[in-house]
Amino acid sequence: MKKRIIIIGATSGIGASLARQAHGKGYIVGGTGRRVERLEELQKQLGEEFYFRQMDVVEPGNASIILHSLINEMGGMDIIVLNSGISNYPASSISSMEQEIIDVNVSGFVNLFGEAFQYFRQQGHGHIVGISSIAALFGSARAAPYSASKAFISTYMQGYRNRCYHSDYDITITDVKPGFVESEMTEGKKGMFWVANTDKAVRQMLIDIEKKKKISYITRRWRLIAWVIKLSPNWLIERI
Ligand SMILES: NC(=O)c1ccc[n+]([C@@H]2O[C@H](COP(=O)([O-])OP(=O)(O)OC[C@H]3O[C@@H](n4cnc5c(N)ncnc54)[C@H](OP(=O)(O)O)[C@@H]3O)[C@@H](O)[C@H]2O)c1
Repeated sequence: MKKRIIIIGATSGIGASLARQAHGKGYIVGGTGRRVERLEELQKQLGEEFYFRQMDVVEPGNASIILHSLINEMGGMDIIVLNSGISNYPASSISSMEQEIIDVNVSGFVNLFGEAFQYFRQQGHGHIVGISSIAALFGSARAAPYSASKAFISTYMQGYRNRCYHSDYDITITDVKPGFVESEMTEGKKGMFWVANTDKAVRQMLIDIEKKKKISYITRRWRLIAWVIKLSPNWLIERI
Protein backbone atom coordinates (compact mmCIF):
# COMPACT_ATOMS: atom_id res chain seq x y z
CA MET A 1 0.00 0.00 0.00
CA LYS A 2 1.31 3.44 -0.97
CA LYS A 3 2.26 5.81 1.86
CA ARG A 4 0.58 9.20 2.05
CA ILE A 5 2.76 12.18 2.89
CA ILE A 6 1.56 15.76 3.43
CA ILE A 7 4.05 18.61 3.08
CA ILE A 8 3.11 21.91 4.71
CA GLY A 9 4.97 24.52 2.65
CA ALA A 10 5.43 22.72 -0.67
CA THR A 11 5.51 25.74 -2.97
CA SER A 12 9.28 26.32 -3.18
CA GLY A 13 12.73 25.24 -2.05
CA ILE A 14 12.96 22.23 0.25
CA GLY A 15 9.21 21.56 0.32
CA ALA A 16 8.74 21.61 -3.48
CA SER A 17 11.74 19.34 -4.00
CA LEU A 18 10.45 16.97 -1.32
CA ALA A 19 7.05 16.83 -3.05
CA ARG A 20 8.72 15.86 -6.36
CA GLN A 21 11.09 13.32 -4.82
CA ALA A 22 8.45 11.68 -2.62
CA HIS A 23 6.15 11.44 -5.64
CA GLY A 24 9.04 9.92 -7.63
CA LYS A 25 9.46 7.29 -4.91
CA GLY A 26 5.81 6.28 -5.15
CA TYR A 27 4.23 8.24 -2.30
CA ILE A 28 0.79 9.78 -2.56
CA VAL A 29 1.68 13.43 -1.92
CA GLY A 30 -0.28 16.37 -0.53
CA GLY A 31 1.12 19.90 -0.53
CA THR A 32 0.10 23.26 0.88
CA GLY A 33 1.22 26.87 0.73
CA ARG A 34 -0.15 30.34 0.12
CA ARG A 35 1.02 30.53 -3.52
CA VAL A 36 -1.65 28.39 -5.10
CA GLU A 37 -0.26 28.87 -8.62
CA ARG A 38 2.92 27.02 -7.55
CA LEU A 39 0.78 24.14 -6.30
CA GLU A 40 -1.17 24.06 -9.58
CA GLU A 41 2.16 23.96 -11.42
CA LEU A 42 3.32 21.05 -9.26
CA GLN A 43 0.11 19.19 -10.00
CA LYS A 44 0.69 19.72 -13.73
CA GLN A 45 4.17 18.19 -13.33
CA LEU A 46 3.20 15.35 -11.00
CA GLY A 47 -0.33 14.64 -12.17
CA GLU A 48 -2.40 12.16 -10.24
CA GLU A 49 -1.47 11.44 -6.67
CA PHE A 50 -0.52 15.05 -5.96
CA TYR A 51 -3.22 16.79 -3.97
CA PHE A 52 -3.05 20.35 -2.75
CA ARG A 53 -4.72 23.07 -0.73
CA GLN A 54 -3.98 26.75 -0.36
CA MET A 55 -3.15 27.38 3.28
CA ASP A 56 -1.76 30.19 5.39
CA VAL A 57 -0.38 28.69 8.59
CA VAL A 58 -0.91 31.91 10.54
CA GLU A 59 -4.68 31.38 10.39
CA PRO A 60 -4.89 28.48 12.85
CA GLY A 61 -8.60 27.67 12.62
CA ASN A 62 -8.58 27.64 8.81
CA ALA A 63 -5.27 25.79 8.62
CA SER A 64 -6.67 22.96 10.78
CA ILE A 65 -9.84 22.66 8.68
CA ILE A 66 -7.81 22.70 5.46
CA LEU A 67 -5.43 20.02 6.77
CA HIS A 68 -8.31 17.68 7.59
CA SER A 69 -9.98 18.26 4.22
CA LEU A 70 -6.68 17.40 2.49
CA ILE A 71 -6.31 14.25 4.62
CA ASN A 72 -9.86 13.23 3.67
CA GLU A 73 -9.28 13.76 -0.02
CA MET A 74 -6.08 11.70 0.13
CA GLY A 75 -7.80 8.92 2.04
CA GLY A 76 -5.55 9.33 5.09
CA MET A 77 -2.11 10.48 6.15
CA ASP A 78 0.96 8.50 7.23
CA ILE A 79 3.59 11.26 7.36
CA ILE A 80 3.33 15.03 7.77
CA VAL A 81 6.28 17.33 7.11
CA LEU A 82 5.93 20.70 8.85
CA ASN A 83 8.22 22.69 6.58
CA SER A 84 6.68 26.18 6.36
CA GLY A 85 9.02 28.79 7.68
CA ILE A 86 10.36 32.28 7.19
CA SER A 87 13.62 33.90 8.25
CA ASN A 88 14.64 37.50 8.85
CA TYR A 89 14.01 39.89 5.98
CA PRO A 90 14.64 43.61 5.55
CA ALA A 91 11.65 45.32 7.17
CA SER A 92 10.72 48.83 8.24
CA SER A 93 9.40 47.47 11.52
CA ILE A 94 11.71 45.00 13.28
CA SER A 95 9.06 44.12 15.85
CA SER A 96 6.41 43.20 13.27
CA MET A 97 8.96 41.14 11.32
CA GLU A 98 9.93 39.32 14.53
CA GLN A 99 6.26 38.75 15.35
CA GLU A 100 5.70 37.30 11.88
CA ILE A 101 8.57 34.83 12.41
CA ILE A 102 6.97 33.74 15.68
CA ASP A 103 3.52 33.48 14.05
CA VAL A 104 4.71 31.29 11.17
CA ASN A 105 7.60 29.30 12.66
CA VAL A 106 6.22 28.80 16.18
CA SER A 107 2.42 29.32 16.38
CA GLY A 108 1.72 27.95 12.89
CA PHE A 109 3.94 24.95 13.63
CA VAL A 110 2.40 24.21 17.04
CA ASN A 111 -1.14 24.38 15.67
CA LEU A 112 -0.55 21.86 12.87
CA PHE A 113 1.69 19.68 15.03
CA GLY A 114 -1.21 19.41 17.49
CA GLU A 115 -3.68 18.49 14.75
CA ALA A 116 -1.35 15.85 13.33
CA PHE A 117 -0.52 14.42 16.75
CA GLN A 118 -4.21 14.01 17.60
CA TYR A 119 -4.88 12.45 14.20
CA PHE A 120 -2.03 9.94 14.57
CA ARG A 121 -3.05 9.09 18.13
CA GLN A 122 -6.53 8.16 16.92
CA GLN A 123 -5.10 6.27 13.96
CA GLY A 124 -2.67 4.42 16.25
CA HIS A 125 0.47 5.33 14.31
CA GLY A 126 2.10 8.10 12.28
CA HIS A 127 5.19 10.17 11.62
CA ILE A 128 5.67 13.91 12.19
CA VAL A 129 8.68 15.58 10.60
CA GLY A 130 9.53 19.15 11.62
CA ILE A 131 12.02 21.27 9.71
CA SER A 132 14.13 23.04 12.29
CA SER A 133 17.66 24.28 11.58
CA ILE A 134 21.27 24.20 12.72
CA ALA A 135 20.40 27.76 13.81
CA ALA A 136 18.39 26.16 16.64
CA LEU A 137 21.67 25.33 18.36
CA PHE A 138 22.71 28.90 19.19
CA GLY A 139 21.34 32.43 19.29
CA SER A 140 22.39 33.93 15.99
CA ALA A 141 23.50 37.58 16.18
CA ARG A 142 21.99 38.22 12.75
CA ALA A 143 18.76 36.26 13.21
CA ALA A 144 17.84 36.01 16.89
CA PRO A 145 14.06 35.42 16.40
CA TYR A 146 14.69 32.87 13.67
CA SER A 147 17.17 30.81 15.70
CA ALA A 148 14.93 31.10 18.77
CA SER A 149 11.92 29.91 16.76
CA LYS A 150 13.86 26.88 15.56
CA ALA A 151 15.14 26.16 19.09
CA PHE A 152 11.52 26.22 20.24
CA ILE A 153 10.34 23.65 17.69
CA SER A 154 13.32 21.35 18.28
CA THR A 155 12.73 21.34 22.03
CA TYR A 156 8.99 20.96 21.47
CA MET A 157 9.52 17.92 19.24
CA GLN A 158 11.92 16.41 21.75
CA GLY A 159 9.29 16.81 24.47
CA TYR A 160 6.62 15.12 22.37
CA ARG A 161 9.05 12.34 21.38
CA ASN A 162 9.67 11.69 25.08
CA ARG A 163 5.93 11.72 25.71
CA CYS A 164 5.43 9.10 22.98
CA TYR A 165 8.13 6.97 24.59
CA HIS A 166 6.50 7.14 28.04
CA SER A 167 2.96 6.63 26.69
CA ASP A 168 3.77 3.88 24.19
CA TYR A 169 2.37 5.90 21.30
CA ASP A 170 3.55 4.61 17.94
CA ILE A 171 4.29 8.09 16.62
CA THR A 172 7.72 8.86 15.18
CA ILE A 173 8.99 12.43 15.45
CA THR A 174 11.88 13.50 13.25
CA ASP A 175 13.68 16.79 13.83
CA VAL A 176 15.42 17.85 10.60
CA LYS A 177 18.23 20.35 11.07
CA PRO A 178 19.48 21.67 7.75
CA GLY A 179 22.61 23.79 7.46
CA PHE A 180 22.49 26.06 4.41
CA VAL A 181 20.41 24.89 1.46
CA GLU A 182 19.76 26.70 -1.84
CA SER A 183 16.23 28.13 -1.78
CA GLU A 184 14.31 31.38 -1.97
CA MET A 185 15.05 31.83 1.73
CA THR A 186 18.82 31.84 1.23
CA GLU A 187 18.87 33.65 -2.13
CA GLY A 188 21.29 36.60 -2.01
CA LYS A 189 22.16 36.07 1.65
CA LYS A 190 25.78 36.66 2.63
CA GLY A 191 28.10 34.77 4.97
CA MET A 192 26.95 31.27 4.06
CA PHE A 193 29.17 28.23 3.50
CA TRP A 194 28.64 24.58 2.52
CA VAL A 195 25.45 25.66 0.74
CA ALA A 196 23.83 22.44 -0.48
CA ASN A 197 21.99 21.90 -3.71
CA THR A 198 18.29 21.64 -2.83
CA ASP A 199 17.66 18.26 -4.45
CA LYS A 200 20.77 16.74 -2.87
CA ALA A 201 19.77 17.99 0.59
CA VAL A 202 16.23 16.70 0.18
CA ARG A 203 17.45 13.31 -1.10
CA GLN A 204 19.37 12.86 2.18
CA MET A 205 16.41 14.13 4.16
CA LEU A 206 14.00 11.66 2.60
CA ILE A 207 16.40 8.79 3.36
CA ASP A 208 16.49 9.88 7.01
CA ILE A 209 12.69 10.18 7.12
CA GLU A 210 12.36 6.66 5.75
CA LYS A 211 14.85 5.44 8.36
CA LYS A 212 12.64 7.14 10.97
CA LYS A 213 15.61 9.01 12.41
CA LYS A 214 15.01 11.16 15.48
CA ILE A 215 17.41 13.89 14.33
CA SER A 216 18.55 14.47 10.76
CA TYR A 217 21.42 16.80 9.87
CA ILE A 218 21.21 18.01 6.29
CA THR A 219 23.63 17.71 4.58
CA ARG A 220 25.45 15.05 6.61
CA ARG A 221 28.56 17.11 7.30
CA TRP A 222 26.50 19.62 9.29
CA ARG A 223 26.51 17.03 12.06
CA LEU A 224 30.15 18.08 12.57
CA ILE A 225 29.17 21.76 12.92
CA ALA A 226 26.41 20.79 15.36
CA TRP A 227 28.93 18.90 17.44
CA VAL A 228 31.38 21.86 17.42
CA ILE A 229 28.60 24.30 18.43
CA LYS A 230 27.48 22.05 21.29
CA LEU A 231 31.05 21.83 22.62
CA SER A 232 31.93 25.51 22.14
CA PRO A 233 32.22 27.83 25.13
CA ASN A 234 30.06 30.98 25.23
CA TRP A 235 32.93 33.34 24.42
CA LEU A 236 33.41 31.50 21.13
CA ILE A 237 29.68 31.37 20.31
CA GLU A 238 29.56 35.17 20.83
CA ARG A 239 32.07 35.60 18.01
CA ILE A 240 30.17 33.47 15.43
N1 LIG B 1 17.30 27.01 3.10
C1 LIG B 1 18.01 26.86 4.20
O1 LIG B 1 19.25 27.08 4.20
C2 LIG B 1 17.36 26.38 5.47
C3 LIG B 1 18.19 26.06 6.54
C4 LIG B 1 17.61 25.59 7.74
C5 LIG B 1 16.25 25.45 7.81
N2 LIG B 1 15.46 25.79 6.75
C6 LIG B 1 14.00 25.64 6.91
O2 LIG B 1 13.49 24.90 5.83
C7 LIG B 1 12.13 25.24 5.63
C8 LIG B 1 11.88 25.48 4.15
O3 LIG B 1 12.58 26.65 3.75
P1 LIG B 1 13.23 26.85 2.31
O4 LIG B 1 14.67 27.08 2.52
O5 LIG B 1 12.82 25.80 1.37
O6 LIG B 1 12.61 28.28 1.95
P2 LIG B 1 11.46 28.74 0.94
O7 LIG B 1 11.78 28.32 -0.44
O8 LIG B 1 11.29 30.17 1.23
O9 LIG B 1 10.16 27.91 1.42
C9 LIG B 1 9.38 28.29 2.50
C10 LIG B 1 8.05 27.56 2.44
O10 LIG B 1 7.29 27.97 3.59
C11 LIG B 1 6.01 28.38 3.16
N3 LIG B 1 5.45 29.42 4.01
C12 LIG B 1 6.04 30.56 4.44
N4 LIG B 1 5.16 31.30 5.15
C13 LIG B 1 3.98 30.61 5.16
C14 LIG B 1 2.69 30.85 5.69
N5 LIG B 1 2.41 31.97 6.37
N6 LIG B 1 1.73 29.92 5.49
C15 LIG B 1 1.99 28.80 4.79
N7 LIG B 1 3.19 28.51 4.25
C16 LIG B 1 4.17 29.41 4.43
C17 LIG B 1 6.22 28.90 1.74
O11 LIG B 1 4.99 28.84 1.04
P3 LIG B 1 4.16 30.13 0.55
O12 LIG B 1 5.08 31.30 0.50
O13 LIG B 1 3.62 29.74 -0.79
O14 LIG B 1 3.06 30.26 1.56
C18 LIG B 1 7.25 27.90 1.20
O15 LIG B 1 6.60 26.78 0.70
C19 LIG B 1 11.86 26.46 6.53
O16 LIG B 1 11.20 26.05 7.72
C20 LIG B 1 13.25 26.96 6.86
O17 LIG B 1 13.30 27.66 8.08
C21 LIG B 1 15.98 26.24 5.59
